[in-house]
Amino acid sequence: MLNALSVVIRQAGDIILSARDVEGAVHEKTGPRDLVTKYDFQVQAFLQAALLELLPEAAFIGEEDAAAALPTEKEWAFIVDPIDGTTNFVQGFHNSCVSIGLAHWGKMECGLVYNPYDGELYTAQQGKGARLNGKPISCQDKDLTHSLLMFGTGLYYRELVPKTQRLFQAAFPLVQDIRRFGSAALDLCYVAAGKAGAFFECRLCPWDYAAGMLIAREAGCLVSTLEGEEPSLREKSSVLAGSPKAYGALLELFREVEEQCHEA
Ligand code: IPD
Ligand code: CA
Ligand code: CA
Repeated sequence: MLNALSVVIRQAGDIILSARDVEGAVHEKTGPRDLVTKYDFQVQAFLQAALLELLPEAAFIGEEDAAAALPTEKEWAFIVDPIDGTTNFVQGFHNSCVSIGLAHWGKMECGLVYNPYDGELYTAQQGKGARLNGKPISCQDKDLTHSLLMFGTGLYYRELVPKTQRLFQAAFPLVQDIRRFGSAALDLCYVAAGKAGAFFECRLCPWDYAAGMLIAREAGCLVSTLEGEEPSLREKSSVLAGSPKAYGALLELFREVEEQCHEA
C-alpha cells in the first residue's frame, strides 16, 4: 500500500509543480490569511479519484470539501491535505506539501508527506518506522537548549493569538532558536528527521497532522495536544511534537505558563 500511495502522492506533487499564475487562482476563504487556490481543489480531486481507486471501500476526508468528520462506521479512511502550506504556494516560497494519512478503525496506519519542490517524500507505516526517500529517519536526542523550535501561528483563529504569543515568549529564551516555515505537515516531518527538536501549534485540523503525526511517532518523537492528550482525528486539536527530551521540557513549560495565566 505504501508503495502505491507513494506513486499517487508524487503525481499529486506534479500538479503543484505544473501550476501557473498561482496568484490569479487565489480565493480568500475567511480573509487574506486564509487562502485557497484552484490548484488545492485540483490536487484534492486527483487524490480522491486515485486513492479511492486503490481502496474503494475507504472514506475520503479532504480539506477542500465540507465532509470533514471521520466516519466511524468505515474501516479505512484517507485524511488528506491536498496542499499544506497554501500561503507559501501562493507566495512562491517553496515549502509546501501534499499530505496523505490512512487511518484504520480510527488509528493512523500509513502517513505520507511530499514536498514536490525538493522531492522529499516522508513515509511511515504503523510499527514499521519512518523514512525519508526510502531511508530510515529518527528524531534528535538533544535537550531543549540545543533544539530548534518550530511553531505555527494559526492566524485564522484570532482568539488564539495571545496564547501562541505566551507560549512562544516562554520558550524563546530556552531553545537554540525559533523557526516558522508555514506547513504543519512538513514541520512534523522535520522533527521526525531530526532537523528540528520540536513543533507546536495551538489549533490545527486533522488533515494538517494525520500523516505527519504518524511519521513523527515512527521516528521516535512524542506527539500530543498541548495538554498531553491524544490529538483527535475527528476535530481540531492543538499539537506538540518533539524529540522526547524537548517534548517533555516544553509540555511542562507550557502547562506552567497556562496555569499562571489562568491564576492571574
Ligand atoms: C496551514 C499550514 C500552516 C499552519 C496553519 C494551517 P494550509 O495549512 O499548515 O503552517 O500554521 O494552521 O492551516 O491552510 O496551508 O493547508
Ligand atoms: Ca493544512
Ligand atoms: Ca491545505
